[in-house]
Amino acid sequence: MKIKSAEFLTSATTLRNCPRADWPEFAMIGRSNVGKSSLINMLTERRNLAKVSATPGKTRLLNFFTINNRWLLVDLPGYGYAKVAQEKRADFNEAVAGYIEGRETLLCVFVLIDSRIEPQRIDIDFLQWLGERDMPHALIFTKTDKQSPAATRANIDRFKQALSAWRAELPPTFLSSSQTKAGRGEILRFIEQTMAA
Ligand code: GTP
Ligand code: MG
Repeated sequence: MKIKSAEFLTSATTLRNCPRADWPEFAMIGRSNVGKSSLINMLTERRNLAKVSATPGKTRLLNFFTINNRWLLVDLPGYGYAKVAQEKRADFNEAVAGYIEGRETLLCVFVLIDSRIEPQRIDIDFLQWLGERDMPHALIFTKTDKQSPAATRANIDRFKQALSAWRAELPPTFLSSSQTKAGRGEILRFIEQTMAA
């Protein structure tokens, strides 16, 4: 898919003040600092469309972007940031939970996982939570430029193993780097196919 236009639409604090649900929608979620905002910029080839920061917890609102005037990308706040949520395990923003459970045009949630980090309870719990709600989702292993392909593969295998203890079917999986643009074509193709289905 060619990205002809990518524009910031609006921010929301809860499901109730989200923009009208007129278009197919795809959302990015994952732990703080995993690279959600960077991935949106990489996919759209717009340097500063979504705000990126080395400090975790940068994205605090649900940010909507209109792509090609016919579908939306949503940048969600990260979960598991210690300063925001200290003790609760799968604690993530109430607003994000309400959005995922109630947004009828949400076609797929992309769950981003740092490809260098061993399987984390909070990610497994969150995937479990999505599965229980029958919310379609896919995995994107980010920052693959930061280590060797072999190390990335080994870590993805560990993650899949941890996940298969819980569930029979594994979600579609992608590898990405917002530095090298690895994964861009595959992810955009998946989005296109999901909209056509
Ligand atoms: P929050 O909004 O705080 O939850 O973070 P986020 O998930 O949106 O992460 P963000 O895109 O702001 O990136 C966090 C940091 O990781 C920034 O310093 C980025 O430059 C860096 N980063 C993100 N993706 C990549 C990547 O693919 N490769 C490398 N090397 N760095 C990355
Ligand atoms: Mg962000």
